[in-house]
Amino acid sequence: MSDLTPPAAPGAPARQSVWQNWISLAGAIITAGSLFAFLFLLTLDLAGKGERNPYLGILCYLVAPAFLILGIALVLGGAWQQHRLRTRTPDGPAPRLAIDLARPHDRWLLIWFSVGTVAFLLLTSVGSYQTFHYTESVEFCGEVCHKVMQPEFTTYQAGAHARVACVECHIGSGAAWYVKAKVSGLYQVYSVLFHKYEQPIPTPVQNLRPARDTCERCHWPEKYSGSIEVTHHRFLADEENTPYTVRLLVHVGGGSAAHGPVGGIHWHMLVSNKVEYYAADLRRQTIPWIKVTSPDGSVKVFRTDDFKGEPDPKAVRQMDCMDCHNRPAHNYSSPNDSVDEALYLNRIDRTLPGVKRAVVDLLTKTYANEEAATAAIDKGLRQRYAGKPGLDATIVAAQRIYRVNFFPEMKADWSKYPNNIGHLDSDGCFRCHDGKHNLVGDRTKGLSTECVTCHTILAQGAGADLSRVAPEGFPFKHPAGDVPDGMLCTGCHNGKNQDN
Ligand code: HEC
Ligand code: HEC
Ligand code: HEC
Ligand code: HEC
Ligand code: HEC
Ligand code: HEC
Repeated sequence: MSDLTPPAAPGAPARQSVWQNWISLAGAIITAGSLFAFLFLLTLDLAGKGERNPYLGILCYLVAPAFLILGIALVLGGAWQQHRLRTRTPDGPAPRLAIDLARPHDRWLLIWFSVGTVAFLLLTSVGSYQTFHYTESVEFCGEVCHKVMQPEFTTYQAGAHARVACVECHIGSGAAWYVKAKVSGLYQVYSVLFHKYEQPIPTPVQNLRPARDTCERCHWPEKYSGSIEVTHHRFLADEENTPYTVRLLVHVGGGSAAHGPVGGIHWHMLVSNKVEYYAADLRRQTIPWIKVTSPDGSVKVFRTDDFKGEPDPKAVRQMDCMDCHNRPAHNYSSPNDSVDEALYLNRIDRTLPGVKRAVVDLLTKTYANEEAATAAIDKGLRQRYAGKPGLDATIVAAQRIYRVNFFPEMKADWSKYPNNIGHLDSDGCFRCHDGKHNLVGDRTKGLSTECVTCHTILAQGAGADLSRVAPEGFPFKHPAGDVPDGMLCTGCHNGKNQDN
């Protein structure tokens, strides 16, 4: 780079502008390249109306501008450095950019420079287009930061939304949310690189978009679902692994008067009724205050006795799909649930005495990592059932349960990510429907806790009992005797074995 610091010829031409230096020139090229990429991506985004390309926004509104700023900073920085050099050595030789096309060296330099610039611009556009496609993909979200996202990715693959791209729920479309998601996205990249992320990753996701912009792009909230049958195949933790099945008719109903009676569980949907609540904890598990606004504008407030007054309006959340369906894509089964399922599907051998309790106990222990867990499961079951047929398959099944539901490195499992549908292992619906929320103004009226508000029990038990079906529903026959009045299911059930 002989021309960077040419010897000061006596009687050198008038001083050149501070802008003429290599750093500023490089800055100018980066500026031009990113501007070009920005315009190109913007065209893509507008052409696609931003409908299906949530990640395009990251590139268009974040990465390209970042390079733009970098370019401009370099232009200014180069000029500033020039300026400093000159003020320091007022009469000294100022490094400058002098291109003399008469010099073969300079001619070549210019040719290479032009070729380089054109290639750079081309690569920028092809590159940004490819990057856009890549960042939109599930691999990018789920596999790039493999260890960090492993729990979410693994559970995602086992759910009803395994074919729905992460970005459909987590970013959605529209420019305003791009920016929000992008800023937090950059922070996430930083936190992964510098190991600053929390373990487990906190839930609920603070800036998650309202369901209206994500879930409701595929799911029609007006749908009238009526009642749907849900069957739970359970097994007791006794020596016989006694089966115990509950067939429930769950009254999902609907929220739109145009398509069915407004009522049932989907009554809460925003279509007709607006439900708002205040949660005292970040995980939204303790809910002391609820407000309902009916279509006619009338308002009802329900409160627990120990909560007085009104909550801070900023902390009030409008209820949407995700307050119940908070695990549509990342459901972590509890030991109790997953072992029951494996027993029902005969993956775990039901003839092994007390195997339900044995496997649940092994899954409930804390392990340093997956290897330690699978080794302990193998050892524990071999010790207990040495030589029994069905042992090997049972070990494989138990280890598999661990692999897809427990992630010790990220401290992620069912206890950190409770599912709000139901009320057995975590309070779920009983966060509000627990008999402790009374109507302000009339304490005799509270949120319904009647079992039949939400479901009727069509059949329960095992064997012959199960073939007795009552359309009007049976009262619940709890396998361990009557449930004490006023006690929530979670008072005893916690996803592990019940010892009382
Ligand atoms: C069907 C919609 C949907 C899809 C698809 C989806 N998620 Fe989620 N995700 C959610 C919801 C809902 C939550 C929990 C939100 C809450 O409770 O605030 C969540 C939570 C998360 C969390 C926070 C930890 C947690 O479990 O609460 C991470 C990280 C995450 N998702 C990553 C991903 C990745 C990576 C993918 C793709 C492999 C993905 N998600 C696909 C809906 C989805
Ligand atoms: C891109 C479209 C899409 C988006 C976005 C989406 N879903 Fe779904 N969802 C589906 C499809 C498709 C199915 C049916 C899958 C099947 O049965 O094979 C489904 C199934 C479901 C089911 C039934 C689950 C089951 O186990 O049968 C629930 C509940 C649900 N979605 C809730 C949600 C919630 C809550 C969100 C937002 C966080 C959401 N969905 C976002 C497409 C979507
Ligand atoms: C008050 C809690 C609650 C809210 C809010 C809620 N759901 Fe549900 N939803 C349920 C329950 C409970 C079921 C019954 C199925 C089950 O038990 O898994 C269900 C069932 C469903 C099903 C399967 C039944 C069917 O007809 O296919 C879909 C899909 C669904 N919900 C989507 C949504 C969407 C989309 C929203 C938001 C617009 C929403 N839900 C809001 C609790 C809720
Ligand atoms: C944030 C608090 C909250 C949560 C969580 C909640 N609900 Fe509700 N629910 C309400 C309120 C408020 C009402 C209206 C009570 C009234 O107006 O008397 C209601 C009413 C209902 C109704 C009666 C609707 C009708 O036909 O009038 C059903 C059924 C219901 N909820 C089911 C559920 C189920 C199932 C879940 C869990 C998946 C659940 N709720 C979770 C607050 C909640
Ligand atoms: C606010 C609504 C609501 C009320 C009130 C309610 N349940 Fe439930 N219950 C649910 C939902 C939702 C599920 C989960 C359905 C599913 O798994 O899809 C459920 C699940 C169950 C199950 C199956 C548990 C399992 O996992 O094996 C039983 C048993 C049950 N309820 C009994 C009762 C009894 C007994 C009462 C009355 C004391 C009651 N429920 C009151 C909403 C309710
Ligand atoms: C006082 C403690 C206690 C309370 C409260 C309680 N249960 Fe249970 N429950 C038990 C015990 C103990 C067993 C037997 C455990 C076993 O053998 O696995 C059991 C077993 C069950 C089972 C079958 C096996 C299993 O573990 O899934 C179901 C279903 C069940 N209970 C539902 C409920 C529901 C629904 C509620 C709330 C309405 C409830 N229980 C409240 C103690 C309790």
